[in-house]
Amino acid sequence: MTGADAKQGATGPPTDGTFGVYVHWPFCLSKCPYCDFNSHVRHAAIDQPRFLRAFETEIAWTAARIPGRVVSSIFFGGGTPSLMAPETVAGILDAIARHWSTAPDAEISLEANPTSVEATRFRGYRVAGVNRVSLGVQALDDRALSELGRLHSAREALDAVAVARSVFGRYSFDLIYARPQQSPQAWAAELKTAIAEAAEHLSLYQLTIEPETRFAALHSAGKLVIPDDNTARDLYDTTQEICGAAGLPAYEVSNHARVGAECRHNLVYWRGQEYAGIGPGAHGRLDIAGQRHATATEKRPESWLMRVESLGHGNIVDDVLTREERADEFLLMGLRLAEGIDVAVYEKLSGRPLDPERVHGLLSHDFIQIDAGGRLRVTPAGFPVLDAIVADLAA
Ligand SMILES: C[S@@+](CC[C@H](N)C(=O)[O-])C[C@H]1O[C@@H](n2cnc3c(N)ncnc32)[C@H](O)[C@@H]1O
Ligand code: SF4
Repeated sequence: MTGADAKQGATGPPTDGTFGVYVHWPFCLSKCPYCDFNSHVRHAAIDQPRFLRAFETEIAWTAARIPGRVVSSIFFGGGTPSLMAPETVAGILDAIARHWSTAPDAEISLEANPTSVEATRFRGYRVAGVNRVSLGVQALDDRALSELGRLHSAREALDAVAVARSVFGRYSFDLIYARPQQSPQAWAAELKTAIAEAAEHLSLYQLTIEPETRFAALHSAGKLVIPDDNTARDLYDTTQEICGAAGLPAYEVSNHARVGAECRHNLVYWRGQEYAGIGPGAHGRLDIAGQRHATATEKRPESWLMRVESLGHGNIVDDVLTREERADEFLLMGLRLAEGIDVAVYEKLSGRPLDPERVHGLLSHDFIQIDAGGRLRVTPAGFPVLDAIVADLAA
């Protein structure tokens, strides 16, 4: 039995000891009309020292549940973490290092909005220990940025990218495509400009109309028209072609990187490894006594704060996943990756083999392939119908 096997238990993790910590900062300067993340606008100043104390408390509580971990990655997501004072970020990193140990080569990422004000804080984050930033550029076209409700221009975003390049060893930025009226030609030109500014990593998301957002209301009223399925497919194909040719292939449905420059923290989610979620509305997957716990905290920032201050944590969900749930999640997340999944791990988790007939059907349509080492991957032809493939295999 290997060390990894010994750790597995009943529905144990397919993990090699990799452990990530996600920290959620739930505030933004304004709410973008497409966004359904747990983000809130407050007109009064945020009491950051009070939030820091609550983050420290919740880290201590979580570490008591899963002691002894070595942290391989930390991700400050939001919301807008670049509204945090560098001292708040430093305090959280110190608390993580006090309660677990942090690997010397840990990846420590922070999501930033690309405004000039936020870029002035980058050096402070670097001193605090952040070694990678992910900037929400979203578009390189001022009209599109204003339609997306963004508070920055394309020039300002590229200036922030330049600051990130000079301060951090690693940086990435996000773009949203399949925007209203966007043609494949216009997107191709924008993407090539982006690639010229990118170093090792880009996240390229197709615009999704999320329920309960301002875009959802405009869309259902016919005031916001997004590309039809054929155009969306052309835009997707254009993305794969241009990024592949530039040495930035998709290692995940929406994430492109040079080999070895993948976001290690996000790989933790997609590979089904263990992570703690700290802060309002953060999710975690904790391995306790051989069982996988799915956790979530209170979403509303002030309610989370009060819960932590009175109870020592903001946790409101703590479900032990069944074998089946665990295996389904492994499949759903793992098939998003170009590297796919290890079929043997899936079968061990679920306690049953994949249905040979379904596998055969997907192989014969060239939607999946299985290599000699037993890894099952979705093919380029399969990625546009990924949801159907997952549903078929999980059924
Ligand atoms: C937590 S958000 C953003 C972080 C940061 N606050 C920002 O806006 O730059 C992470 C990313 O999700 C993407 N995103 C959010 N809502 C989306 C939507 N409805 N469709 C496509 N991408 C979306 C955006 O690219 C965004 O940068
Ligand atoms: S996209 Fe970013 S800035 Fe805009 S509301 Fe969402 S989290 Fe906040």
